[in-house]
Amino acid sequence: MTVLETRPDTTATLRFPAGFRWGTATAAYQIEGAAAEDGRTPSIWDTFSRTPGKVRNGDTGDIAADHYHRLSEDVALMRRLGVTDYRFSIAWPRVQPTGRGPAVQKGLDFYRRLTDELREAGIRPVATLYHWDLPQELEDAGGWPQRETAYRFAEYAGIAAEALGDRVATWTTLNEPWCAAFLGYGNGVHAPGRTSAVDALRAAHHFNLGHGLAVQALRAALPEPSEVSLTLNLHVVRAHSDAPEDVDAARRIDAVGNRVFLDPVFHGRLPQDLVADTAGVTDWSFVQDGDLRTASAPVDSLGINYYSPAEVAAGSSESPSPWAGAERHVRFVDLPGPRTAMDWPVDANGLHELLVRLRDELPGVPLVVTENGAAYDDYADPSGQVKDPERVAYLHAHLAAVRRAIEDGADVRGYFLWSLLDNFEWAYGYSKRFGIVHVDFATQRRTLKDSARWYADVIARGGLTA
Ligand code: NOJ
Repeated sequence: MTVLETRPDTTATLRFPAGFRWGTATAAYQIEGAAAEDGRTPSIWDTFSRTPGKVRNGDTGDIAADHYHRLSEDVALMRRLGVTDYRFSIAWPRVQPTGRGPAVQKGLDFYRRLTDELREAGIRPVATLYHWDLPQELEDAGGWPQRETAYRFAEYAGIAAEALGDRVATWTTLNEPWCAAFLGYGNGVHAPGRTSAVDALRAAHHFNLGHGLAVQALRAALPEPSEVSLTLNLHVVRAHSDAPEDVDAARRIDAVGNRVFLDPVFHGRLPQDLVADTAGVTDWSFVQDGDLRTASAPVDSLGINYYSPAEVAAGSSESPSPWAGAERHVRFVDLPGPRTAMDWPVDANGLHELLVRLRDELPGVPLVVTENGAAYDDYADPSGQVKDPERVAYLHAHLAAVRRAIEDGADVRGYFLWSLLDNFEWAYGYSKRFGIVHVDFATQRRTLKDSARWYADVIARGGLTA
């Protein structure tokens, strides 16, 4: 297998620093399939996707992109692209099906094979422990609003680290706990589909606690040097105007969307304005002495996922809202300009804004863009090509924004494109395609989109052509 042929570098290249990590990202439930194989039991997403009306077209992850049976083909694709790193997630219900007790060997073996093949291909494995697939038994026992789930998560983290610690280069505890807490328990558009403001806030706290406990478990089990991280989907939220009510609306969303995780994890404190904003919902007595110290166990880097920004003004939000009561007097403003197939505005400046903010607020914390990408309505044309110029434009603009942020002093170490493959896009099922590799779900045939060839070229050049 050869790396895709690249053009000679005759044009000016906007180079990225030497050693910059170029990756692609996926998640277990979105690509693996094999939902009932080798001892895997249902997660909350199996249950949710089987609940009528929750996922578009009644789609489930039962087969997905069949990656469980096609890992060699998928690693070979990445080798062709020339990526240096691959971010995947470990399915908790494969490794520890009931969320407690010993590991299932066959479940671990899959990730051993995957990491072996990655390493043979010269690709660094970057593993996420929790990309939303909570074992259903733990949800039945109360899920993330219950403190016990944080302890269960730390036990699972320790098991995974013991088994795979010699082969995974970077460990990420959680992926986007905001979505898992506020979409899962707040407005119910994600699994497990509960709609309770207090449960969303309790879940957020137990994610912070579980993260800190997992960091301890990972540090205890991992060989040096291993990198330990977490990934947040931080919201770039802009006030519609300088009017104090609009500025306050942006502050509220920043508190419940960003600082609800940033403050405990990086500063060992709760955002007091969030506590005040949610006073009608909870007194936060579920936060126990020592929790915030645990949550703030040092990490080696912060992963951020960025897709689009938001603008807010004084007003009122739709109901049920994910924002747990903190959004009173907040209205989300429709932004003008181009949108992706998710109807998300395209605005690469937001990524620059976010990276520069983190440069200032978290000095000394290396940053990694662990997800960025776009869904468009792609199809293979009669000649078998998938032309996706809009995705290429999106990616180019966002990578240029990352490079500008690096120039401006942000310590950005890598970029992971979401996603390697078209996959199960949660509540949207298979209707949204984020891959740079097209998947025909009827045949499981993979076809490189033009964006995949473009990305291979960027990696080979070490940067963008101006
Ligand atoms: C964030 C999530 O981590 C990922 O699972 C999802 O598919 C993408 N964003 C796109 O929505």
